[in-house]
Amino acid sequence: MTPEQNERLTRVEGPAPMGAMMREHFWIPFALDSQLEAGGAPRRIRLLGKDYAAFRAEDGRIGFLDERCPHRGASLVLARTEGCELRCIFHGWKIDVTGQVTEAATHTPNAEEFAARIKMRRYPVHEAGALLWVYLGDGPLPPLPDMPFTRVPREHVWVSATHVACNWLQGVEGTLDSAHVGTLHRSWIERSVAGGQTTIGGALTMLAPSYEVEATGYGLRAAALRPQADGTTFVRVTEHIVPFVSIVPSTNTEDGNFFIACPVDDTHHILFWGHYSPTEPMNINTTRVQLHLNDPEVDVTNLGRFHGDRDNNWAQDRAAMAQGHFSGFTSTLLQEDVVVQLSMGPIADRTLDHLSSSDVAVARLRALLLRAVEQHGQGAYPLTGGPLPSYAEVQPVNVVMPEGGDWRTLRDNVPA
Ligand code: FES
Ligand SMILES: [Fe+2]
Repeated sequence: MTPEQNERLTRVEGPAPMGAMMREHFWIPFALDSQLEAGGAPRRIRLLGKDYAAFRAEDGRIGFLDERCPHRGASLVLARTEGCELRCIFHGWKIDVTGQVTEAATHTPNAEEFAARIKMRRYPVHEAGALLWVYLGDGPLPPLPDMPFTRVPREHVWVSATHVACNWLQGVEGTLDSAHVGTLHRSWIERSVAGGQTTIGGALTMLAPSYEVEATGYGLRAAALRPQADGTTFVRVTEHIVPFVSIVPSTNTEDGNFFIACPVDDTHHILFWGHYSPTEPMNINTTRVQLHLNDPEVDVTNLGRFHGDRDNNWAQDRAAMAQGHFSGFTSTLLQEDVVVQLSMGPIADRTLDHLSSSDVAVARLRALLLRAVEQHGQGAYPLTGGPLPSYAEVQPVNVVMPEGGDWRTLRDNVPA
């Protein structure tokens, strides 16, 4: 990895090619669906280094607009929500969810005619998987995020957000590195095992696997393979949809976790982490969710929060470690991920890495992202080089594979 490649992979603000590729070709999740209340206050949303104002009108429609009022630039995050429109608090201009200025009382004569001529840019929004997604590009709309967690009923998805003050790629790479699960999250796995929540999942993830990776039209599939004494192999396949969505199987193939490291700017991302199930409702009280939390005051809008910073080692609890906790971050499983990513600095210097065999998915992802950016620069669709990618095949897997099996074919045998 050269410094230039590191720069190309991480920078998303302004004209950076990675940011431009994300803007043009992908829906970007920006908030939990519960974070925009009908008729409630607008929220400031920062994506790819630019600020926006998002609000939900009284009728449920969502407006996603540039933050700047088209009159003289006051923040529309300060605006009043009046019915289905925003009213700027500076001079009272009114703007609807489509970005149309509907009142400009500062102008005479013919205020109506004047207002009708002013339209803000409105960005398309899509609700799926308990998240709100936006398309910021100028091109034709990319394929909708049609993935295992967006196909189940809304009440079968639980999702949280965590604000992390480091580059988005650190967040993504953490999701493609199952080698850390048995160490960093050791105490949470022990808790899952003790809670009876795992049969072949948690206990076995502590054994060192070998990794194989297969590139797909949308990203990659990373298999962690753990051969067993009886000739079978315990297989866990994580799906990664370029550039920022990873879907990890649960203790079975049908249910899963998803992680999305949404790029806020060069040195911040939001990590969305959720659980889904086609068969069971999921919420904060579901056992599967509760097993990863140990904080009665947990805040789903900033789940992996911690107290302190680098100066106090992010409040690592050495007393808990002395009593057996592995990492010393005891509030939520996600806190452990967030702290290790932050500890690498605002933008990790990958030229200093020494990748091992367990990092094959990380290495492959970096290569895929560099290729995707290059293809975008040449006017081609990232990864496919031509047609829009299909997400129909995305399917994480967690099974015991019989002797002589091929993990690449497993998704054909499991229910979608
Ligand atoms: S700046 Fe918004 S109405 Fe004047
Ligand atoms: Fe993790």
